[in-house]
Amino acid sequence: MTLTEKYRPKNLGEIKGQDEAVVKIKYFIKNFGKGKRAIILYGPPGTGKTSIACAAAKENDLEIFELNASDFRNKEKLSTILKPAVEQKSLEKKNKLILVDEVDGISELDYGGLPELIRIIDLTPYPMIITANDIWDKKFNLLRKKCELLQLKEISYNIIKTIISEISAIEGLSIDSDFITELSIKAKGDLRAAINDLQTLSRLKDYFSIILDERNKETDIFNSLRKVFKEKPTNEIMGIFDSVNMSIDDIMLWFEENIPAEYKGEELARAYDLLSKADIFKGRIYKQQYWRFLVYENIFLSYGIASAKKNSKTGFTSYKKPSRILQIWMNNQKTIQKKSICEKYSQYVHVSQKRAMNEFPIIKQIIKSNPNIQKELKLDEEEIEYAQL
Ligand SMILES: Nc1ncnc2c1ncn2[C@@H]1O[C@H](COP(=O)(O)OP(=O)(O)OP(=O)(O)O)[C@@H](O)[C@H]1O
Ligand SMILES: [Mg+2]
Repeated sequence: MTLTEKYRPKNLGEIKGQDEAVVKIKYFIKNFGKGKRAIILYGPPGTGKTSIACAAAKENDLEIFELNASDFRNKEKLSTILKPAVEQKSLEKKNKLILVDEVDGISELDYGGLPELIRIIDLTPYPMIITANDIWDKKFNLLRKKCELLQLKEISYNIIKTIISEISAIEGLSIDSDFITELSIKAKGDLRAAINDLQTLSRLKDYFSIILDERNKETDIFNSLRKVFKEKPTNEIMGIFDSVNMSIDDIMLWFEENIPAEYKGEELARAYDLLSKADIFKGRIYKQQYWRFLVYENIFLSYGIASAKKNSKTGFTSYKKPSRILQIWMNNQKTIQKKSICEKYSQYVHVSQKRAMNEFPIIKQIIKSNPNIQKELKLDEEEIEYAQL
């Protein structure tokens, strides 16, 4: 779930920085029937238009009936969709609220639907909320006359900052307050943008802490590789992996990868032989859950491999990251992208995530060839890139 979805206001009390609009929308719904039958909420993106409509519906126990831009494609379609909704009571016998979200998003081709929309405003027995960024185009002249107008303003930087600080505290994101200030100013009144930036920042933070963690691990493992490969075996060397924050299996992969970098000829053969003994114990541990064998796995890797050489070694050897770990890591990355694409897809078309995962090859094909769908699903760059593979 994205942070903007998670923190979408659940009721009008949670709408921030739009006090006047909230009062007016409450009044509009409460007094529906006395004045105009539709209200246009207009203003800059990410300031709460859609959220206010949804919260108002929830708070008044109204079922939302939503129309999108594509429903305006033609008059007939609009009347087949909207008229029945306006004429019938909902199944749960709840009252409704009709939401025409982003009316300024309709394309020129679909203007034909506008007069029909206006006719429907006259008929609607339910309050209607229309949202738009810009409503001053002359094509909306008639629509504007039929509706009350309610302007939403950019959300002030202070309010954005407070909200971002709150979210970051709840999410446990310990993000520097200077960062939050900067991000709130940069948002220029668009709260959604600010929350999205926070999310990106938090991902980056995870990313950097993983990298740092990997680096620390690498320093530790490099040191122990050096000791085992270069120095003479001692009792002390058997404890060498204690300070390496890595599973013994991963350590084994590092040895597997780097033995040829250090040992040649007979030494190489002996070292591989000892590695294979460690691997035998590893197998027994897995099969029999006999954890005492861990000691042996450990000894073969440390003391064992150290003793494979005749003399201690000097000089610098650059050790490589095991390619198998890299492979595993890359595979994991792939499933991360796949999962997040499926998450968005499943929410969008209302199927389970499991089914989306199963049908992924098809979904991927569809996404790959269709930028509009990428947009509809709100895929980020990494996800789009992954779909192209
Ligand atoms: N006034 C607000 N109070 C609290 N949260 C808000 C407010 N405005 C925006 N948000 C946050 O930003 C997200 C997006 O807001 P919303 O969809 O309501 O914006 P909008 O005005 O409809 O934007 P657009 O013009 O792009 O449709 C919400 O899910 C919520 O997390
Ligand atoms: Mg909106």
